[in-house]
Amino acid sequence: MTETTPGVRIRPLDELDISDIVAIDEKISGRYRPEVWERQIGYYLRRDPESSVVAEIDGKVAGFMLGEVRSGEFGLEEPTGWIEVLGVDPAYRGKAIGRHLAEAILEHFRQRGAHSVRTLVDEEKQGDIRSFFTALGFEPSTMRPFVKTL
Ligand SMILES: CC(C)(COP(=O)(O)OP(=O)(O)OC[C@H]1O[C@@H](n2cnc3c(N)ncnc32)[C@H](O)[C@@H]1OP(=O)(O)O)[C@@H](O)C(=O)NCCC(=O)NCCS
Repeated sequence: MTETTPGVRIRPLDELDISDIVAIDEKISGRYRPEVWERQIGYYLRRDPESSVVAEIDGKVAGFMLGEVRSGEFGLEEPTGWIEVLGVDPAYRGKAIGRHLAEAILEHFRQRGAHSVRTLVDEEKQGDIRSFFTALGFEPSTMRPFVKTL
C-alpha cells in the first residue's frame, strides 16, 4: 500500500473492486459488462495478486492497472512485466493517478525479477494511452504484433 498524492492510496487489486471497475469501464467504453470484469479480475488475482493495483480516493476506486510477469513467450526468455489493462475514471484524470499506478506495478515487476516492462497500444485508436506511456518513458519496440483475419 502506498501513499502518493494526498488522498490517493495505491493498493493491490481485490475481488471486491469488481463493481467499481465495472463502473469505470462503463464510463470509458459506454458498455456495462460485469461478467467480463469478473472473469478478467479473477484471472489476474489467480495469476499474481500483487501484479495488479488500484488507486483509491476517499475509499472509492478511481483507477486500476492489471498486469503480470511472464517469461518464455515471444522469444523473450527473461522475466518481463506486462501491463495489459488500465483505466482511470474520467473525473479523476490528469492528477497523476495513472503515473502512481504504473510506479507501483513497475516496482512489483522489479521485485519479481523483471528488467523490462512491455505493453501493446493501438496507435490509431489509443492515442491517449500512447501519450501516457510515452510520458512514463516507454519507447516503441522493434517487436511487432502480426494479425490475420479468421
Ligand atoms: C491513459 C490514462 C490511464 C491516463 O491516466 P491519468 O491518471 O489521467 O494520467 P496521469 O495524470 O498519471 O498522466 C501521466 C502522464 O501521462 C500524460 N498523459 C496522460 N493522459 C494523456 C493524454 N490523454 N494525452 C497526452 N498525455 C497524457 C500526462 O501528461 C502525464 O505526463 P507528465 O507527468 O509528464 O505531465 C487515462 O486517460 C485512461 O484511463 N484512458 C483510457 C484507458 C482505456 O481506454 N482503457 C480501456 C482499454 S485497456
